[in-house]
Amino acid sequence: MQRFIIQGGEELHGEVWISGAKNSALPTLAAALLTEEPVILHRIPAVKDIQTMVQLLRSIGATVEVEQGAVRVQAQQILVPEAPYDLVKTMRASSLVLGPLVARCGRARVSLPGGCAIGARPINLHVSGLEQLGARITQSHGYIEAVAPDGLAGKSIHFDRITVTGTEDLMMAAVLARGTTILNNAAREPEVKDLAELLVKMGARIEGAGTSTIRIEGVQTLRGAEHTIIPDRIEAGTFLLAAAITGGDVRVKGCEPSHLEALLAKLSQVGVMVDRPEENTLRVRGANLRSADVTTEEHPGFPTDLQAQYMALMTQAEGISIITETIFENRFMHAPELMRMGANIRLEGRQAIVAGPRQLSGAEVMSSDLRASASLVLAGLVARGRTVVDRIYHLDRGYEKIEKKLAALGARIQRV
Ligand code: EPZ
Repeated sequence: MQRFIIQGGEELHGEVWISGAKNSALPTLAAALLTEEPVILHRIPAVKDIQTMVQLLRSIGATVEVEQGAVRVQAQQILVPEAPYDLVKTMRASSLVLGPLVARCGRARVSLPGGCAIGARPINLHVSGLEQLGARITQSHGYIEAVAPDGLAGKSIHFDRITVTGTEDLMMAAVLARGTTILNNAAREPEVKDLAELLVKMGARIEGAGTSTIRIEGVQTLRGAEHTIIPDRIEAGTFLLAAAITGGDVRVKGCEPSHLEALLAKLSQVGVMVDRPEENTLRVRGANLRSADVTTEEHPGFPTDLQAQYMALMTQAEGISIITETIFENRFMHAPELMRMGANIRLEGRQAIVAGPRQLSGAEVMSSDLRASASLVLAGLVARGRTVVDRIYHLDRGYEKIEKKLAALGARIQRV
């Protein structure tokens, strides 16, 4: 099992380039199943989840070619409209092939994702949306089987709660349905908008992506297209927080500041200096930090995927900060690990109360999920002495060469 060894205490200086967004790459790769023509995607990050999705597309029958950052997918025919358990158990976003498969070939068999460290994360909203479009869905042996022998019919659908991949799955099902589909209470994440832009390039008719109401006019077929996905706002946010926690001075390049407004507002509230020296660049300089509360919310609110990293920052801030997690029911697993490093955190249900500043000391810590691991790395950068972060395969799922990017900024970090 690989691990990171970090010697804390170094300020981060220099510039770092942000990779393409994992959570945009996953749905756009799945969208290639909607046409028999080739779809070419650029700025695809080389992370584990993408390799899993490529494996899944190949097992379904698509040809996939990958060369440094560009992926060419052609699903000339769908051989096996299935997402098997051994793939889904490593990456729950495999459920993103459900909508495209039902739309393209009228059937799909997708393993239920099962539990996840951060919460139950069911896909009931994906299923009920597909049923409303006319799919007949049964569940057996841990699999969902969906059939729509005479295709899907457009409908007005209301999501009981906002779901990012649920919105994406249903959008991909609706683009080939007969008639009009309206998605109400849809997710507004930039990755949803990015997927819609690809689908429109493929010939889909979509309005309102990025707002809570998305209108889709079904078409007969879709053609191939070429598209460059958006940069990863969570990776960018992670590096902004890494620079802030070490008191450094870093330029984050190739990012999209408009996707990070909630974090940028919070950083200036806690005393971090952030400015925009040029297009797609954010410059962040650490300072004496003061505490500020945060509540995670769906976009454009403060992203749940930056909550753990923000908690690490607040251990170094003067005062009390209350962090409220509203999206997932169990997303504080990084807190006990941070406490082992000396942080003063009290957990009360959906809230974590952090009192700072506390000088952290290096320790052996355990990753539990992708973003919790990032939080432990950030704490290791500022802790006194040596921190060993175990089970870093969690990090490799969503961060491209994170230790190389951090080392280039002056961090003393190595993978062993
Ligand atoms: C997406 O997951 C992201 N993953 C997650 O990023 C992110 O944390 C999450 O959105 C929230 O922003 C991808 O885009 C691949 P949801 P998703 O459906 O779509 C409940 C990362 O770190 N829910 O928006 O699975 C669910 O349990 C990952 O990159 C249902 O109850 O999240 C959760 O409490 C982690 N039924 C809430 O809604 C459903 O059918 C939001 O989940 C679907 C969701």
